[in-house]
Amino acid sequence: MELLKQRILQEGFSLPGNVLKVDSFLNQQIDPELSLKMGEEFVKRFHDCKIDRVLTIEASGIAIGLTTALKLGVPLVFARKRTSILMTESMYSTKVFSYTKKETNTISVLKKFLPAAENVLIIDDFLANGDSALGLAKMVEEAGSKVVGIGIAIEKSFQIGKSKLTEAGYRIESLARIKSLADCKIEFVEE
Ligand code: G4P
Ligand code: NA
Ligand code: NA
Repeated sequence: MELLKQRILQEGFSLPGNVLKVDSFLNQQIDPELSLKMGEEFVKRFHDCKIDRVLTIEASGIAIGLTTALKLGVPLVFARKRTSILMTESMYSTKVFSYTKKETNTISVLKKFLPAAENVLIIDDFLANGDSALGLAKMVEEAGSKVVGIGIAIEKSFQIGKSKLTEAGYRIESLARIKSLADCKIEFVEE
């Protein structure tokens, strides 16, 4: 997605440790117009799929998950990283190791918001090691539903997540694919 790539080049910073900082439109401040266009692009990429529900993870997945769900006319559900005292009903939970934070978190969704026999589209902001997306997919399957695909805003193609998810049989659509963040530069995969 050209527009997203431009914004990454204009506003993104390549930080040591292969991390891309994009807090001016995705991770802290959110650009509503760009989020809407990203949602529209996900809908276009998955136009051949029947989709009943969008699933993402808090926090940064919510904006782009919302615009995608809005354009599809389906509900958005987000997995929580901390359970609330209000989550007294039964939940799907799975452990996810965060590579950037070096810690294992349990992510959860109330079972009633992940019904069986649906086609679910997973949306997330970054694909790095792929553990978050795999965790979300696991919950969808545990619910007896199907993952129709995984839509990613920014794929770090040089990390293991992309191949891990592809090998697991999931269809991935990434709006921007980054080949390298070495030497404080941002290089995209040519497509
Ligand atoms: P994974 O998402 O592929 O499993 O990888 P990882 O465990 O490394 O991701 C942990 C967090 O770091 C996630 O956000 C993920 O979106 C984010 N992340 C991974 N690589 C980058 C990067 O290069 N740049 C930025 N800005 N974020 C990255 P999170 O901790 O769940 O935070 P949030 O969604 O609440 O913002
Ligand atoms: Na994030
Ligand atoms: Na995320």
